[in-house]
Amino acid sequence: MHATIDRLSIQELLNLISSALSAATLYSTSHRQVREIVPRIAETFDRLLAQQPELTFMIVKNDLLYDGKPLERTPHNERFARIFYARNIGYLRFSAGISPDEIDQLLKVAVGRERAEIFLTATPHIDYGEVDTRDDWKPIRPISRFEELSDEELQSINEFYDVIGDKGDLDIRNVSSIIAGFVSAFQQEANPLLALVPLRLEDEYTFTHSINVAILNLAQGTSLGLEEQLLHDVGIAGMLHDAGKIFIDTELINKAGQLSDEEWQQMQRHPSRGAQYLMNQEGIPQVAICTAYEHHMKYDMTGYPKVPKGWTLNLCSQMTMLSDTFDALRTRRSYKEPWDFAKISGLMLELAGTQLNPYLTMNFLKLLETLGEDVINSGISLTADAPEMSEEELSKRHVCE
Ligand SMILES: [Fe+2]
Ligand SMILES: [Fe+2]
Repeated sequence: MHATIDRLSIQELLNLISSALSAATLYSTSHRQVREIVPRIAETFDRLLAQQPELTFMIVKNDLLYDGKPLERTPHNERFARIFYARNIGYLRFSAGISPDEIDQLLKVAVGRERAEIFLTATPHIDYGEVDTRDDWKPIRPISRFEELSDEELQSINEFYDVIGDKGDLDIRNVSSIIAGFVSAFQQEANPLLALVPLRLEDEYTFTHSINVAILNLAQGTSLGLEEQLLHDVGIAGMLHDAGKIFIDTELINKAGQLSDEEWQQMQRHPSRGAQYLMNQEGIPQVAICTAYEHHMKYDMTGYPKVPKGWTLNLCSQMTMLSDTFDALRTRRSYKEPWDFAKISGLMLELAGTQLNPYLTMNFLKLLETLGEDVINSGISLTADAPEMSEEELSKRHVCE
């Protein structure tokens, strides 16, 4: 039978599934918000599948196709496409009789709690196919040490930043697969914190800092029990948090000594420039855009950009602020020496409850303790001279990177 269902009804179904995906990613598949939507999805499926026996959605990168034609790129459709594409799913076919249990399985696959193969055994009314147009598809392999990144992978991260530098279009897939490698290492109980980029690479600052913040975000996210898809997004957010720096003069970023008011104002524009840039790129998770914008808004809202009263910070932005602060203190900057672990944790504790989220800070420090000071401090013995700065000057700069 040929499709007779109108696109509005299809969109209604997709909006419901996307809302469930969003809540399942943010909380868990058993969260109340998800539980409330699942019966509504089942009812909508019943209604639509009474008109025709099957519904097939194809996923081509960020596009979702129904009946062979691309659907409009709404945030709901993009989320659906992105999440299932990341699971290497090229199409999903739903047939009449689909149960709420099967919808549960669908959500579990989406958040990474189940593998897509479950559709072959446990869901008689959901069928799927893998992405077959992806000639660059590679299986995910765990990356638990920086040295394990191949030259090709390093190259692709570098190119990724070159593209931002040229203000060109970003291809998120290379970075996405590297983040997936880190996530996979965490899942295998390897400790990818060991992959924190060795400090000798500090001259490629944006590159090394971005990887470090991504890994520290993943470490926090894992310890908080985030579902796989959100964990992945939190890693991407770490990777992209400073994308707006590319729009700021390099001289200013590397400047030793205090910034003038005007320079400081320019520096403070990097969060909004970054968010703006990412918003116009395809396939960037919403949380990464939000994090680029919010990562300098402190817990007590004394940071920047200035926002209206009552603004609430995204959890990922607050996690990124911790990773960012830690990495900035740990590494040598043009205006400061690297700090050791004791000094860093002392300062972070001091800032907990004012600039930093106190619960996340405790969690972060506990996490680092389990890793051991040696790893954290490894490489903090550089020989090049860095200008001395007073504690007061540092306090203005240290969380501003
Ligand atoms: Fe920043
Ligand atoms: Fe940063």
